[in-house]
Amino acid sequence: MLRPALALRAARTLCTHVTAALLLALSAASGSAQSSSAPADSVRNAANGVYSGDQAAKGETLFAGTCGNCHGITEFSGPAFRRAWAGRTVYDMFDQLRATMPLDNPGGLSREQYAAVIAYLMSVNRYPAADVDLPSADADLRRVRFDP
Ligand code: HEC
Repeated sequence: MLRPALALRAARTLCTHVTAALLLALSAASGSAQSSSAPADSVRNAANGVYSGDQAAKGETLFAGTCGNCHGITEFSGPAFRRAWAGRTVYDMFDQLRATMPLDNPGGLSREQYAAVIAYLMSVNRYPAADVDLPSADADLRRVRFDP
């Protein structure tokens, strides 16, 4: 079970990198409109509150019903979780989850539901809640990062 899952993850990571390279090439080709209108501080950090408590509560229910058969939440909490995601975007996590989980139905949740599950994972890892929901569009998720 472990090997195919790891291989899948590796393939997915490679795919993400190829996509990122393509996007870079595309944005370079389309000029600098984006870079001039998007200041560096439009990137938000999970440490500053990027999801709502309501959203995390929805995510907890989803996790129990959809992920809980195969996973305990402790698998995704603690220092190892923070280390694994430090410096990465929330998009990376969203994309990985959507592509691979639930194992028996990858992509089976709505985008809002994946965002809610991630909000729940943030809450159990003591990232603070705020009064905005974690977004679920790729472009917005790319601008949210985990604390390095
Ligand atoms: C049918 C069983 C099953 C279900 C349902 C399931 N998973 Fe998984 N999940 C697995 C298996 C098996 C792995 C591979 C474990 C590994 O590679 O260490 C995995 C891996 C993962 C990983 C990667 C762990 C790592 O070490 O990088 C994450 C994150 C994850 N699952 C989250 C979820 C979430 C969130 C849900 C619910 C939306 C979910 N899973 C539903 C079986 C399942």
